[in-house]
Amino acid sequence: MIVVGVDGSPAALAAAGWAAREAAARGGTLSVVHAMPAWPLEISEKDRYADVGRWMREGATSMLDAAVERVRQEDPRVVAEPRLLGGDPRAILIEAAADAELLVVGNHGLGGFAGMLLGSVALGVVGRAACPVAVIRDPSAWPAGEVVVGVDGSKAGTGALGFAFFEASLRGVGLRAVHAWSRPVVGGGPFAEDSAEVERRLLAEALAGWSERYPDVKVTEQLEDGHPVRVLAEVSARSGLLVVGSRGRGELTGLLLGSVSHSLLHHAGCPLVVTPAPASPGSS
Ligand SMILES: Nc1ncnc2c1ncn2[C@@H]1O[C@H](COP(=O)(O)OP(=O)(O)OP(=O)(O)O)[C@@H](O)[C@H]1O
Ligand SMILES: [Mg+2]
Repeated sequence: MIVVGVDGSPAALAAAGWAAREAAARGGTLSVVHAMPAWPLEISEKDRYADVGRWMREGATSMLDAAVERVRQEDPRVVAEPRLLGGDPRAILIEAAADAELLVVGNHGLGGFAGMLLGSVALGVVGRAACPVAVIRDPSAWPAGEVVVGVDGSKAGTGALGFAFFEASLRGVGLRAVHAWSRPVVGGGPFAEDSAEVERRLLAEALAGWSERYPDVKVTEQLEDGHPVRVLAEVSARSGLLVVGSRGRGELTGLLLGSVSHSLLHHAGCPLVVTPAPASPGSS
């Protein structure tokens, strides 16, 4: 099952359209969720504000109907189930996606201001949901290009690799595995070449097992001297999907989202999927 969160905004409708394609490719159902304040869903018909409550429920229901219609337009084969739930949208979406394979949101919604790149609901579910989260912006940036995955060699990155191989196989496209690194500041000399070799091996080793599991996926390895955000943002502008892990090698305890993943939420040039960090030993 895939879950998409909608709030009546054009960005959320775009997310519903993208989620429909994904559900069609995977062959599962699509749950279309809208979170609203709880009281209109709970209010008694005898309450003096019952009319206001009914008016709010009706507005939310017709908004959900429009999102389901958007799904039907994208792919009539997809079974879309509208769900109207009461509570904070972040908590509701995380709960609704507890058993999902993917949670999809727009990069912004009805709130915010023109030009704002990331809303609080989008930011609030990435790194917290138990499943991968897709953040969708402008539908004009949905080329059917390669899948790109950012590889940093961390344990947290294996989830991103697994998702990226699965998607590339599903879409029948190539996978570009990008590892960005920085030459040592001391620079030059024999060590620079050595460290490039170390990074190349790190990338090859991260990919080895996955390539065996997905022999159909053609992998391009790309080693870049540069900041990962700049490198991945550039590559993503020519790609169909960018996949990164929520956390990387900079394992600051308590941090839900690494700085690379966080920056890419603002700067990715195509749909972005952030995969959850593996549960650490001792956590439940
Ligand atoms: N009430 C909601 N119910 C379900 N999904 C939601 C809800 N609000 C937002 N979303 C999802 O999250 C995406 C991003 O919206 P978000 O609310 O984060 O941005 P915003 O409204 O522009 O900013 P903010 O709410 O922080 O002022 C939306 O495109 C939609 O997919
Ligand atoms: Mg909002």
